[in-house]
Amino acid sequence: MDVTKVARQFTLAALMRMVGLPLSDFDQIAHWSDLMGHMLDPVRGMDPVYREPANQALSELIDYLQTLMEIRRADPLDDVLSSFAAPNERGQSLDVRDAMGLITRSMINAGHSTTTNQIGNNVIALAQHPDQVEILRSKPELMSAAIEELFRFEGTGQVTVRVAADGTEICGTPIPEGQIMWAFEASANRDPSVFESPDTLDFARDTSRSLASGGVVHYCLGVSLSRLETEVALDRMINRVTDIAILDEVHDLPRDGNIIIRGAKELLIPWCKRTAHPVVQKNCSSRSPRARSNASVDPKRRRARLET
Ligand code: HEM
Repeated sequence: MDVTKVARQFTLAALMRMVGLPLSDFDQIAHWSDLMGHMLDPVRGMDPVYREPANQALSELIDYLQTLMEIRRADPLDDVLSSFAAPNERGQSLDVRDAMGLITRSMINAGHSTTTNQIGNNVIALAQHPDQVEILRSKPELMSAAIEELFRFEGTGQVTVRVAADGTEICGTPIPEGQIMWAFEASANRDPSVFESPDTLDFARDTSRSLASGGVVHYCLGVSLSRLETEVALDRMINRVTDIAILDEVHDLPRDGNIIIRGAKELLIPWCKRTAHPVVQKNCSSRSPRARSNASVDPKRRRARLET
């Protein structure tokens, strides 16, 4: 099973249902979302190879949404588009540009590739910590704390960009107004002066100072949704798969190269269904490709093997 593919479908389908986009348009929305997702990376944002298709995708998506919003205005459903289209008690509707910005940038752009990659990163972390998987299986009440710690330990958001305001000072160093600054949340989340033994995955840890979902005024608007989706995905995985082994060494995993969003382009795990029968579990586990060397196996052959 390719976890990235499943997570991508799951997270986009959830957003589409919430916004009110027909699932029959999934492939088209996914295509637009992928192109726009490059713009989360400021370096790609300056590169016309990425920027022009992304702008084109955004404008096509806006046309599509506007048409759909008109349909919802005439025939409302229980979804975000209909609520944006509906007039308030003073007869005013949300400005169309604001509505488009909220849906395209704040929901689809900010909420799709982030949670997709976060789920994949968490699966990688769990595959490397089978003892923690067992803890979660025996104590499902730890899941919420586990999600926070997994977000800290292997967050998908790596870095965010800020422009210094007048009078900014960091640890006694004055920063000139207008200076562009890169703030590495991923690094802060492994800061030993904040988190004891930061490279240890520890579900009992206090994660209140984690920056995985940002902080202060820019704290992630979709944090509840991302936690819920990750929780559902991990809960299903740990309770349905016997041995969460990954087929590639972590450093060999194909990456997208987006400097803001870290995740594996493809993340294959053997699908060994969990069962109460210990013999079946043992056999399944022993077939786990992690038990034999994968290094020389062609990825296509590996996938074919997985599907057989
Ligand atoms: C695991 C998944 C997610 C991660 C790791 C994540 C991470 C972050 C981070 C680090 C920030 C702060 C950025 C900054 O300080 O510049 C942020 C902001 C934001 N996130 Fe998320 N996010 C996730 C999922 C989502 C989802 C599902 C949505 C919406 C459906 C969303 C919408 C937003 C928005 C709109 C902001 C900007 C808030 C503002 O600037 O006031 N995010 N997110």
